[in-house]
Amino acid sequence: MPAKDVVEQARRDLAHVPRVPGVRKPDAVLVADGVRRSFGGVNAVDVEHLEVQKNVITALIGPNGAGKTTFFNLMTGFDKPDTGTWVFDGTPLAGVAASRVAKAGMVRTFQLTKALARMTVLDNMRLGARDQPGEGLFAALVKPLWAAREREITDKAMSLLERFKLDAKKDDFAGSLSGGQRKLLEMARALMSDPALVMLDEPMAGVNPALTQSLLGHITDLRDSGTSVLFVEHDMHMVRHISDWVVVMAQGQVVAEGPPSEVMADQAVIDAYLGAHHDTDLGDDALLDEGGVIDAEAQAEADAELEDTEKAEGTAP
Ligand SMILES: Nc1ncnc2c1ncn2[C@@H]1O[C@H](COP(=O)(O)OP(=O)(O)O)[C@@H](O)[C@H]1O
Ligand SMILES: [Mg+2]
Repeated sequence: MPAKDVVEQARRDLAHVPRVPGVRKPDAVLVADGVRRSFGGVNAVDVEHLEVQKNVITALIGPNGAGKTTFFNLMTGFDKPDTGTWVFDGTPLAGVAASRVAKAGMVRTFQLTKALARMTVLDNMRLGARDQPGEGLFAALVKPLWAAREREITDKAMSLLERFKLDAKKDDFAGSLSGGQRKLLEMARALMSDPALVMLDEPMAGVNPALTQSLLGHITDLRDSGTSVLFVEHDMHMVRHISDWVVVMAQGQVVAEGPPSEVMADQAVIDAYLGAHHDTDLGDDALLDEGGVIDAEAQAEADAELEDTEKAEGTAP
């Protein structure tokens, strides 16, 4: 079945799912059970049951401190829960190290740290590859194989950099990139391991509004090319615009879930949100286009805008 039809089918399936926190999904890529993590007596994450549908974009929303980032860290092996199990694409992953979780096909994005900022864009990409060739004795013995793998990694990095329009920057220090370009690099790096599920933590945070359209296009492209997406975003307009399903967390728990237009009309959601953000704009249905897919024309316009901004900033290649 073509990828587009798979997405349509996944959406049709979701339409029949009851709007109940922790509800079963027809085709879940990730199923979490009894996942709890506390920090000094505070229950950062306390998820009884959560299923993430395959082949769609799921938004994870909730006030600051709700446990969204901690949940991502737990699922991807960067933090350990006090209790809980989870199954990704049929594979139990509790207690599995981050590198092996990535190998299984689930990754989260990371912001550019100081250390990564001092590396080139291409080296940042290479870090995202699975099966990194090592420098050990075994690697030396299989040198020809190792060189081929290195070439493969570089080719893959370059084609992703082209897709994200960062190829001209490959030898620049990642720290020299603009805010929007850093976000693109974070996303591109996560794709080096061919994930089946990618978790994006605030992919649009701090990005110039002119570039958000381009980032949104990349996120919908991910879904439309067969990658399931779970993303955290505070901008409710964005959430309405591109997500197929919304999960709301508050105080570590899943308090609501459903399609964006319904969840954002839900009193529990408004309470969870407005408790912390009195000025949160929950968005407008007029922004919802059919199916939430950004068309090629809008994408091209956004990319042209990106180039113009870069010329104005003097950061163009
Ligand atoms: N490493 C940590 N040490 C102590 N407390 C933490 C740590 N990470 C997160 N927390 C706490 O856990 C709660 C959830 O945080 P977080 O997952 O970052 O929320 P969100 O991403 O939804 O804003 C918050 O109360 C936060 O202060
Ligand atoms: Mg967070």
